[in-house]
Amino acid sequence: MATNFLTREAPAARPNRLSVREAVLRELDRVEAYPTLSATAVQVIALSDNPDASAGTVAGLVRRDGVLAAAVLRAANSWAYRGKTAVNDIQQAVLLLGLQECSRLVSALGVKATYAKHPPAVRERCDVLLRHSLFVARLAAGAAKLTGVSNPGAAFAAGLLHDIGRVVACVRCPDAFAEADPIDFAEDDGTLGRERDVLGIDHCAVGFQFATKNTLPEGVARTILNHHRPAEEHLQRGLVTLVTVADRVANHVQREHQIAGYDLGACPFFATLAESCTGSQEKALRAGLPNLVVKAIRETRALLKSTA
Ligand SMILES: [Fe+2]
Ligand SMILES: [Fe+2]
Repeated sequence: MATNFLTREAPAARPNRLSVREAVLRELDRVEAYPTLSATAVQVIALSDNPDASAGTVAGLVRRDGVLAAAVLRAANSWAYRGKTAVNDIQQAVLLLGLQECSRLVSALGVKATYAKHPPAVRERCDVLLRHSLFVARLAAGAAKLTGVSNPGAAFAAGLLHDIGRVVACVRCPDAFAEADPIDFAEDDGTLGRERDVLGIDHCAVGFQFATKNTLPEGVARTILNHHRPAEEHLQRGLVTLVTVADRVANHVQREHQIAGYDLGACPFFATLAESCTGSQEKALRAGLPNLVVKAIRETRALLKSTA
């Protein structure tokens, strides 16, 4: 049978680089189409630097969300916390886990929910980003305790969400994101520029839009925006620099699989962080770093298990 070449569809033209960029930008400009955190996760994140938060407040929030309630009970009944009798009450579970640990679990579950319904390849990449973010969060909270630069709860929340723009870009534009970001933990001064070349926008700007849409606390939003250029941050310099240094340490450990030989003083942002510390706090961070890394790895694994 003869083919009617007039009606035959022309082979689809390969999209050129410019049209890919335009498509990606359209996707990433549509803030209303971004994933959202649950109202509970946002409220728990906002409680992270509130010294008046109580177990009753957190339990009340957790009870409203069946998925969170089940996860908190599961964690409280895990081998790490469980006593002789099973825990069936949310407030008892919150007390057993500790208010801070419970808030961390709920925040991490909130981030995970933003990509839970996407295809497996996207989820896999987002899981890698969540693992990195939890590690940064643990390091930042530990460094906050050692230096006193920030409240550890606020440092954890800012660390957990610092790279949320990467999660959003991965979910909204998976192919272009894979080209822009190999998630190889080899970030440098050119990282944001390379993202802008492919996506037309970088993950800090995407994340800041996400933070605004989700009404995240100021410290978290500023960290998302400036964690690759903390010198430009004027409102939350201490917190942002703390997370930036934690991010650099995490990248090193996740790339090299060790902390031995890491020179904190060679981290270009450590000097900026040291401006917010006394001499003895700076010394404490230098001396405590290897232990802090080991502890953060252990705690990150435990939290990932609870969110699985
Ligand atoms: Fe980043
Ligand atoms: Fe990061």
